Amino acid sequence: MNSITKVGIAGMGFYVPETIVANTDLEARMDTTDEWIRTRTGILERRVAADTEATSDLGVKAANRALADADIDPESIDLIVCATSSPDMAFPATACLIQDRIGAKNAGAFDLSAVCSGFLFAFVTGANMISSGQARRVLVVAAEKFTSLLDCEDRSTYVLMGDGAGAVVLTAEAEQGKIISTCLGTDSSGIEYLLIPAGGSAMPTSHETINQRQHYMKMNGPEIYKFGVRSIGESISEVLTRAGLDESQLDLIIPHQANIRIIESASKRFNLPLEKFFINIDKYSNTSAASVPIALVEAKQNGRLHPGMHIALVTFGAGLTWGAAILKW
Ligand SMILES: CC(C)(COP(=O)(O)OP(=O)(O)OC[C@H]1O[C@@H](n2cnc3c(N)ncnc32)[C@H](O)[C@@H]1OP(=O)(O)O)[C@@H](O)C(=O)NCCC(=O)NCCS
Repeated sequence: MNSITKVGIAGMGFYVPETIVANTDLEARMDTTDEWIRTRTGILERRVAADTEATSDLGVKAANRALADADIDPESIDLIVCATSSPDMAFPATACLIQDRIGAKNAGAFDLSAVCSGFLFAFVTGANMISSGQARRVLVVAAEKFTSLLDCEDRSTYVLMGDGAGAVVLTAEAEQGKIISTCLGTDSSGIEYLLIPAGGSAMPTSHETINQRQHYMKMNGPEIYKFGVRSIGESISEVLTRAGLDESQLDLIIPHQANIRIIESASKRFNLPLEKFFINIDKYSNTSAASVPIALVEAKQNGRLHPGMHIALVTFGAGLTWGAAILKW
């Protein structure tokens, strides 16, 4: 066992909180309109976790669904990698909290932070742990209660994000979702375009940082928009080249669900037919790391995945980071 291309997806699942917050609900809370949100982003509604629900609660539900789908005993999981930027607490890792609750008592567990690209980074890390012989069965969970990071006084970010979790079980025996190629990238020259300034070691939480609302997400929307369009096109092109495939051999694209206009612009600029993109941003908005696995599971539930298909997963986010993979279904 020495190649990442032997690794596939044995099972997958997702969970979104029950509470639906429609754009029209936000009209009552801030100076925004359903029309602005819909036409600028493609979002119609999002799911918001309850006050009593933490990121690990969402992750546990998605993980249990993935384990059931794979028909795998949690005690046989060797490793849990949780991608999140909204952990339950600074430490321990949310992956440890998930490990306890799903009964994966033989697994090592750690978190990984690549913000909206987190699932791809965790997926590639987990697959490499299998291909290098360090693990046989890896649970990759992407879970976010991203609404806990949003400033309710900032309409330019508050309307964009929602909560949710997606999970996959990776094994070398799985027949579906076999990895053909991957790429991960980072350009830290764009750090300031998307970040939470306070609450870490650089700017520990203080009365002042709270009064200045520095513990919430800050974003330069237009810069992230341009980066998103470019990185979707360029990273799909990179993984296709690495796979020895061309665009015509790509059957379905599961993109990060950040803004429908980013997807439409990437489709036009890079000659990727829009009908090949799976889109569910209307229902869930941007769930950060959870967005790609939620879309992947929904694509399967909607009958969009068929044996033999070539599927691209592609994402981008703060860091700036990006990642993509080609899978054979
Ligand atoms: C945020 C984003 C939707 C803004 O869209 P946009 O087309 O650039 O917006 P526009 O420039 O046309 O409009 C900006 C105006 O809308 C206003 N506006 C911002 N949010 C608004 C809201 N929720 N409701 C109403 N008006 C809003 C702004 O105040 C600004 O008004 P002004 O021109 O009077 O100053 C877009 O830049 C974007 O999607 N960027 C990428 C975000 C992203 O994907 N982030 C996550 C990455 S992982």
